[in-house]
Amino acid sequence: MSQRKSRRKFLGSAVAGIGMATLGAHVRVEAVTPSGQQASSAAATTTQRRAAPPIVVASGNGVAAVSKAVEMLRAGSDTLDAVIAGVNINELDPKDNSVGYGGLPNERCDVELDASVMHGPTRRAGAVASLRGVREPSKVARMVLERTDHILIVGQGAREFATAHGFEDTSLLTEESRLAWLRWKETMSGMDKWGPSQYIPAPASPAGEKRLAAERQRASYRLAETYAGGDVKRREELLAWADEVALKPPTGTINCLALDSAFDISGVTTTSGLAWKIPGRVGDSPLIGCGLYVDNDTGAAGSTGRGEEVIYINGARTIVEFMRQGMGPEQACLEALKLIARRYGNDLEKLKDIDVNFYALNKRGDYAGAAIWSHTVSSQGEKRRRQFAFADAQGGRLLDSAFLFERR
Ligand code: GLY
Repeated sequence: MSQRKSRRKFLGSAVAGIGMATLGAHVRVEAVTPSGQQASSAAATTTQRRAAPPIVVASGNGVAAVSKAVEMLRAGSDTLDAVIAGVNINELDPKDNSVGYGGLPNERCDVELDASVMHGPTRRAGAVASLRGVREPSKVARMVLERTDHILIVGQGAREFATAHGFEDTSLLTEESRLAWLRWKETMSGMDKWGPSQYIPAPASPAGEKRLAAERQRASYRLAETYAGGDVKRREELLAWADEVALKPPTGTINCLALDSAFDISGVTTTSGLAWKIPGRVGDSPLIGCGLYVDNDTGAAGSTGRGEEVIYINGARTIVEFMRQGMGPEQACLEALKLIARRYGNDLEKLKDIDVNFYALNKRGDYAGAAIWSHTVSSQGEKRRRQFAFADAQGGRLLDSAFLFERR
């Protein structure tokens, strides 16, 4: 077996090992344990969180976004302007690798962005998908809402539409993202020519032997050195991060929803989508009713995580409809998550690597975040509680999300 083939195998087994599921549901779900037996979880009541508007809810990467948005709402801004200004922080942040500038690229190392916006008071929507070269796709989505008769513009058409409206054509790829892509590219297959050759000549001198040993130790050592310079700690951190995202391609995204004191509602979802995706792949974020839905008479919902699952159940629209029928936001999110679990026969083994998070608020100021799993687990086994961002008069903070299954 070639060196690269064995590395590929290592990646595969590591992924399989990190997501081991255990049963422990927050709400009643008939779940199937890894042994295949049916197990009924303990029933639990859902939590009702309520605050006086203006309030803003977002995904866990959105504390700065909700803080900014609520500050704008308190100063009298429109809800859509406020949420877009909030998520612009993430879109322009090179450290947020799931949104805008610095987002992880597709399999060809091109960054493609998706975004949607909905303005409750005017009952309108706009969206862009597979957009390249613009750092703030949420603003282009708003332009689609305001300046066209369309809802969704994609690919080259979206790029040309953005250019026509004065958006700068700029690079979205950071050096960190390029490193992560190279790390993924070199380890994805033993059948291609990327990565160090499996044919290693006998060293001609001790210097050659030393050099080969160093190269074998870490395939992307020199890559990281190029980016981190002489900073050894930074180099090690970069490599660890690159390996982590190569192993577990993130589906980050930010969704942000706002209710102002006039009880008007708007929302936005913006993302670079699934890392290493096939060029042109579109997730849930720019699809109205999937990654975002706002009904000014009822409430709003949005999502982050594996977009394909959210598309299958029309997640955001489904949650808003559940709320329209009388459910609170948390119950509505959990019921939508159950629809995802049901697609897999509630089989925890099949669901173990599926990550979906919903966020919702209603017209009364009730709000929630809910996830399939209670925690995320890194490839190093580090557990992190699923949280969402919230802001009201007390400012922005993280709160624990409700969940369907507890990851032990
Ligand atoms: N939820 C973001 C995506 O799947 O693209």
